[in-house]
Amino acid sequence: MRKKLVVGNWKMHGSRASNAALLSGLREAGPWNADVAVCVPFPYITETALALTGQAMSFGAQDCSAHEQGAYTGEVSAAMLADVGCRYVIVGHSERRAFHHESDQLVADKAKAALAHGVTPIVCVGETRAEREAGQTEAVVKRQLAAVIHTLTHCIGEIVLAYEPVWAIGTGLTASPEEAQAVHAVLRMQLHAATQKSDAMRILYGGSVKPDNAVSLFGQPDIDGGLIGGAALKAADFSAICRAA
Ligand code: G3P
Repeated sequence: MRKKLVVGNWKMHGSRASNAALLSGLREAGPWNADVAVCVPFPYITETALALTGQAMSFGAQDCSAHEQGAYTGEVSAAMLADVGCRYVIVGHSERRAFHHESDQLVADKAKAALAHGVTPIVCVGETRAEREAGQTEAVVKRQLAAVIHTLTHCIGEIVLAYEPVWAIGTGLTASPEEAQAVHAVLRMQLHAATQKSDAMRILYGGSVKPDNAVSLFGQPDIDGGLIGGAALKAADFSAICRAA
């Protein structure tokens, strides 16, 4: 009943030339049965929008400010993302939590700003290797999600959630389908307690998803697609993952 969603997170990769080649490869490979989107660096959003005109694929950004507007040098507001047609924005990616010290509350505030402008936040949660080894996985992801539930209250059903174990990102290590499913089930139960829409909400898995592990991950009952990093930079790999969904 939930349509799968596959989102490419290009992170800080690309150039006008390489993006054009990648998007043209994806245009030729699609459409797919799943919903598909790419979240690109800010300077390339408008060109991506043009390249995807008339395509089923959507696009978005990788972060936004929690502020509405004002003297926040270097920040990009959710209103600006909406203005250039973004459908999605990733918030709370572990790289931003780690390198930019983003707190659970700031991530929740960013999600709220996005929703206020009709941009769907893809909220990332996930534990580090040390937290997993200390048996804290469940507590960590529940704490991260709780801040978002508390802040969004009745709007929580409008987000996309992404479980990205930090130890699996860019490492080639993937949570097994069963390990990932176990966390997704915990997250869905937490959503269930907060909203009647939990059954319709999409929870993506991210962390070294590749064409050869996508089918088994996406076959799990609570895994509704993927947030793809490295493999989203190659048209053949990303389209194979989209096909798997
Ligand atoms: O947001 C996607 C991500 O962090 C996973 O990256 O390279 O492990 O697929 P990767």
